[in-house]
Amino acid sequence: MKIGIDRITFATTDRYLDLRELAAARGVDPNKYLIGIGQSEQAVIPPTQDAVTLAAQAAAKLPAADLARVTTLIVATESGVDNSKASAIYVKQLLGLSDFVRTIELKEACYSATAGLQFARGQVALNPSEKVLVIASDIARYGLGTGGEVTQGGGAVAMLVSANPRVLEIGNHSVALSKDLMDFWRPLGHSEALVDGKYSTQVYIDFFQQCWQQFRLQTGASLADFSALLFHLPFTKMGKKALASELGERDDADAQRLWAALAASQVYGRRVGNLYTGSLYLGLLSYLNHGAAAAGDQLGLFSYGSGAEGEFFTGRLVAGFADYVDHPDAALDQRQAVSVAEYERLFNAQLGMDSADVAFDLDADPAPFVLAGRKDQKRQYQRNNH
Ligand code: CAA
Repeated sequence: MKIGIDRITFATTDRYLDLRELAAARGVDPNKYLIGIGQSEQAVIPPTQDAVTLAAQAAAKLPAADLARVTTLIVATESGVDNSKASAIYVKQLLGLSDFVRTIELKEACYSATAGLQFARGQVALNPSEKVLVIASDIARYGLGTGGEVTQGGGAVAMLVSANPRVLEIGNHSVALSKDLMDFWRPLGHSEALVDGKYSTQVYIDFFQQCWQQFRLQTGASLADFSALLFHLPFTKMGKKALASELGERDDADAQRLWAALAASQVYGRRVGNLYTGSLYLGLLSYLNHGAAAAGDQLGLFSYGSGAEGEFFTGRLVAGFADYVDHPDAALDQRQAVSVAEYERLFNAQLGMDSADVAFDLDADPAPFVLAGRKDQKRQYQRNNH
């Protein structure tokens, strides 16, 4: 049975920071950000948005008829809003899904959406009529003036998983790898990540190589079998480093095809920043909209989450896939640019980890779903009344 992604949608906030302005404010050569890191813009997250509202925003772009058939909702996130309650329950409520839906949250840094997809495949294999909604939703926060600041971002990717999918049939063979490492983590009580930045990039490449080489050994696959290799993109340069670890100085037809595909997969990430667990899938969407993607092509996907876990898996594009993928270019163009001062104000305005009641001003956020604040230690989510 063919199982995979039947539809894919993406949402981020309505505002962004131009990283040339951030470079000027931090006294850094802008080319370090634009070329060295490979980022041009970064999503700015108002306090009225979090992993729950962004997840709902992305999923609400799916047709109502598809949402009505969802039997399991998986929210993959490392930006969870509660140590106990699954963000998927809030998302289910905001979307108005039936109460007879299984709802669960998955966590393993930037990897968990891939686990969500694999679990969804299992669910559909057991009951082919099921539609499982997997949403990857995160806000990447490192802190003002930190080394990781230029690699922040946020947003969500929603993927409907079904039998006979209309976008991407996911291959049955994959290689997953996990090891107990401290390259990036967020201790309980911290709203910003801690990271050993350079080490994290080395671990990422090492995991890619181990997963890919194992996959090659087990399947006999070669680069010629893939029209694209897609990577988790915490910043777009990371994909370049990973692909270079395999291609080196090669400039043959395989290398040229894979470099062109990588460039197409980086278009959206360059403008939004890190989505953590959604980044690989934003890269997929970017490739589908901007690359030379064709029905029948096989894609290789490398998922990486710090801590650490990696997986190399494959997908085959289905004829007519373009009709079932989101086209977010216009929405990205329409975002409002904010100053560094405004970005810093919004960064510091997020709902803290104390217990005080808070009521946010909702007038400044046109998104369909918002976090209105906190009352009696309960987060207050609502559809926006605009
Ligand atoms: N013009 C062009 N390039 C320039 C430049 C200039 N003026 N100045 C510097 N550069 C280049 C450097 O040569 C360097 O290139 P290479 O990496 O190819 O050598 C690049 O810009 C970055 O410069 P630095 O190494 O000096 O950057 P840094 O010390 O500020 O740290 C970072 C960069 C480690 C990525 C940091 O931003 C960070 O810690 N980010 C968060 C961690 C992260 O994203 N890790 C990725 C792997 S982990 C993961 O994938 C999970 C996840 O999502 C977090």
